[in-house]
Amino acid sequence: MPQHNPPLLNVSKIGYVGFETPDVDRMVEHYTKVLDFVLVERGANQAFLTTNFDHHAVVIERAATSRARSYVGYELREDLDFAEETLRTAGYTVDRRHDIAPSTPDVVVVAEPGSGIPIHLYDSQSGTGVSGYTPVRPTKLGHVAAFTPDLNLLQGFYQDLLGFRWSDTVGDFFVFLRCNADHHAANFLASTKREGMHHVAFEARDLNHLQTQLDHLAAHQVRLDWGPGRHGPGHNIFTYHRDPDGNTIELFTQLDLMISEDNGYFEPRPWHEDFPQVPKTWEVDLATINSWGPVEQAQLDH
Ligand SMILES: [Fe+2]
Repeated sequence: MPQHNPPLLNVSKIGYVGFETPDVDRMVEHYTKVLDFVLVERGANQAFLTTNFDHHAVVIERAATSRARSYVGYELREDLDFAEETLRTAGYTVDRRHDIAPSTPDVVVVAEPGSGIPIHLYDSQSGTGVSGYTPVRPTKLGHVAAFTPDLNLLQGFYQDLLGFRWSDTVGDFFVFLRCNADHHAANFLASTKREGMHHVAFEARDLNHLQTQLDHLAAHQVRLDWGPGRHGPGHNIFTYHRDPDGNTIELFTQLDLMISEDNGYFEPRPWHEDFPQVPKTWEVDLATINSWGPVEQAQLDH
């Protein structure tokens, strides 16, 4: 769905995602030991983990049942008073919170249409002081995918209100949206049967990094559900595994980049199908889902 309206706000990146779990210790141990996240702060019921750029990219919180994508934080390099007023004028109920996390003392919170999950908008996170090369740790939180009962409503919210841009659609049910050069920071599957998170994805800097991550997973007896393969939309090399709560986690690299919005095409890569590779609607076929090989049908259930 091409964008028609000038957006009211302009989100510039995805910052963090929340995971609810009945077993915080188990999740923290997994994300620190298996994926090499750094534990930045830990309370009785909450843990903040980072890949090292922002204060946190993952928040693990105690709850009665597990739920991923319990909230998502997006960076908005605009005045938060303006954002709050704009959202209220557009008819949304808005909270202004000062207690959400140590690194984000001022957050505008609005419920995502359809899911109702809180979307956090903040202007920046403080750093962590964590630095240096490590062979395993992901570079960053890449994107969060979820089911939605009303794709058009959600596209309107993300594109027209938050300034996301349309990158691709598969068939009439799977939409990819970007908020910076990365092909997608959010993707959504239309569904009347399923709800909640589809997967959370973390970026590897290159294929060697991804291979090291996969060997590290294997050394901790974590096996892949699917991949490695290469998706059509975004052209990322993907792998999917489960965390201890059963959440589907993607590790990926080589995601398409829209280096210049003025050009309107993704940076040319030899594995592209189109030159230029522009946002488009893809057929639902094998090459779209995994140009390297087998399709896991569960990945398409919606
Ligand atoms: Fe993904």
